[in-house]
Amino acid sequence: MSLRSLHLLGSPVLRQRSAEVGAVDDEVRRLVEDMFETMDAAKGVGLAANQIGIPRRVAVVDADGDRFALIDPEIVEAEGRSVAEEGCLSVPEIYGDVSRPERVVIEATDQEGNRYRREATGLKARAIQHEVDHLDGILFLDHLSLIKRQMLLAKYRREHKDDTGYTKEVPGEAARSE
Ligand code: NI
Repeated sequence: MSLRSLHLLGSPVLRQRSAEVGAVDDEVRRLVEDMFETMDAAKGVGLAANQIGIPRRVAVVDADGDRFALIDPEIVEAEGRSVAEEGCLSVPEIYGDVSRPERVVIEATDQEGNRYRREATGLKARAIQHEVDHLDGILFLDHLSLIKRQMLLAKYRREHKDDTGYTKEVPGEAARSE
């Protein structure tokens, strides 16, 4: 397993629709393992493959004590509505209140290649929807009002004006304990 670099706001891969995976092979399983490791090191509740530069429909979620991979996920039911603050590993230090359905049912493929169905509410439902958005090139910022989005983008640009590229290393355990 290995930690992967995160792609940040401005990287074109975050804005493209990722490609279907289809059959799950060892390469996809390795990708999922690396994504779990990278999500954990970055302390995220979810991560989509394009956030590490791979435009394939793969995401991982760790929310409300439930940890799972979503390959070729589809939201098959959505109901209710709730508003909660969201952030994104690709848009560090920026947070905004996003309105989304409160409950979803998804169908996805797991690492063994089996199709499964899962119901989720609360934080887990929110994380799933946020990750499925990533696979379609959508960021949580896109759900905000124009004025709120412009405000947060201006703040982001101010804080990241010295960035030299659109990726960043995720510190590993050794680096973080120093
Ligand atoms: Ni995100």
